[in-house]
Amino acid sequence: MYPILVLLHVAGVFGFLMAHGVSAGVAYRLRSERSPEKVRALLELSAASYPVMYGSLGLLFILGIVLGFMGSWWGRAWIWIALILLIAIVVLMTRFGSSLYGEARKLAGLPYMAGGKPQPPIEPASAEALNAALDKGNPALLTAIGFGGIVVIAWLMMFKPF
Ligand code: HEM
Repeated sequence: MYPILVLLHVAGVFGFLMAHGVSAGVAYRLRSERSPEKVRALLELSAASYPVMYGSLGLLFILGIVLGFMGSWWGRAWIWIALILLIAIVVLMTRFGSSLYGEARKLAGLPYMAGGKPQPPIEPASAEALNAALDKGNPALLTAIGFGGIVVIAWLMMFKPF
């Protein structure tokens, strides 16, 4: 049973990476794309990837906790560091990722999130205001946090050094 759950845990990682690649690609494209129609389409595409992204993130997270109990790993430091790192990545993604692109969705006249709740679209702001919001995007920073973080987590899981 343990190896099957490890496989499903890793499958959750694959599903997450496939889904979240959409937001990563969108973030890089939005560094230069300023056509309002295309910006809206890209922002909608990223938002549409959220259900699969969060579903697979939930699967890998829950199975990681279960495997921690099945393998009696909770007495070791590596699993705690991996868990804290994953939570820290999600917090930083919200701060430097979705809050910024969420603001852009609001200014683009698309449905957006506020206080964790979905909000209906409002009157679009000026192109200048939308462009100013998009200019704050920093996909290289998100890559350093997310990609760097997941490599460290993979190292902790594979080598269990502490
Ligand atoms: C293990 C790695 C990663 C994890 C766990 C992760 C997790 C997340 C989560 C949970 C969100 C949604 C936050 C919210 O709902 O407030 C998010 C948003 C985002 N992430 Fe990541 N992320 C990772 C890697 C990356 C990488 C490498 C990039 C590269 C650019 C990236 C770009 C973004 C962007 C652009 C958003 C906002 C998308 C939008 O709102 O349209 N992430 N991330």
